[in-house]
Amino acid sequence: MTTDSITIRRPDDWHVHLRDGAMMQAVLPWTAAQFARAIIMPNLVPPVTTSAMAEAYRDRIRAALPAGADFEPLMVCYLTNTTDPDDIERGYREGIWVAAKLYPAGATTNSHGGVTDIALIRPVLERMEQIGMKLLIHGEVTDPAVDIFDREAVFLETKLAPLVRAHPGLRIVLEHATTEEAVDFVRAHRGHMAATITPHHLVINRTSIFQGGIRPHLYCLPIAKREKHRLALRKAATSGEANFFLGTDTAPHYAKLKQAACGCAGCFVAPTALQTYVQVFDEEGALGNFEAFASLNGPAFYGLKVNSGTITLARRSGHAPECVAVEDETVVVFGGGVETAWSVV
Ligand code: NCD
Ligand code: ZN
Repeated sequence: MTTDSITIRRPDDWHVHLRDGAMMQAVLPWTAAQFARAIIMPNLVPPVTTSAMAEAYRDRIRAALPAGADFEPLMVCYLTNTTDPDDIERGYREGIWVAAKLYPAGATTNSHGGVTDIALIRPVLERMEQIGMKLLIHGEVTDPAVDIFDREAVFLETKLAPLVRAHPGLRIVLEHATTEEAVDFVRAHRGHMAATITPHHLVINRTSIFQGGIRPHLYCLPIAKREKHRLALRKAATSGEANFFLGTDTAPHYAKLKQAACGCAGCFVAPTALQTYVQVFDEEGALGNFEAFASLNGPAFYGLKVNSGTITLARRSGHAPECVAVEDETVVVFGGGVETAWSVV
């Protein structure tokens, strides 16, 4: 017998780029339709570096929500070389910050203001360790001499391993894990580490980006890796293990900026996120672990309550738009414009 529908507690998205202004207005309804809460990435221009900026951004998000939406943005501090440990602690105790994000400077979109040397933020990391504030990491080295497909694995060895040794009490989320090495690293540190896994990294590999020609809408960072890594991510995500949970890394960019001589990194996956994830769990024969990945493991790691209410997904063909309009521009939807095997009821 096959399972034709699945009902789970309302899920959360532990990694979202909402942007701001007209873009946020256009993309936020797609995230709020599927998720009860989301970790809001702080890589705006300028980045969200102070608790005052985070409060103002949180207010703008709440004001942009569709009427009747029940959605809670969880704010994250963008760490810089000069982040003040006292502001971190104050914002955390006041309930403004849920976590802080380490972007190695230059690693990805709007990361040029990030951290140039982890040694410079030692006092911040020590304080976070003391107060139990989570550290979220974009785990790629930025050395242009390192092959782009190796940047995550090299980061684990040269940056993350020493960081974990120096701060054994720090609770860390390795964001958007893309390699077998990342899965192994997180498992080896399971007491105090977790990883988010995106829908797209479960369904594309690096060859997909060049299928029949170059496909800019499949380009994101960290870039998709070889097939063996995709398979390792699928096993980890669907395993039910507490240290792997849902984070879409939905990262909208205007189509014209991705379809360019030097195109932006990021996939807009919000409209098809749950449909993609549940299909993967179905294909792996692991629907029984879907609720843990989507709705339970994340809150447990962050020390938050699970959501009340449920959402139902059915094995029934569905459809997401090919693109979403933002004023006079468009944003292309990952998996949009074609039938999906599952839909949100
Ligand atoms: C993200 C973005 O566009 O903000 N891009 C991406 O490719 N994932 C940044 C990030 O999470 O690396
Ligand atoms: Zn991201």
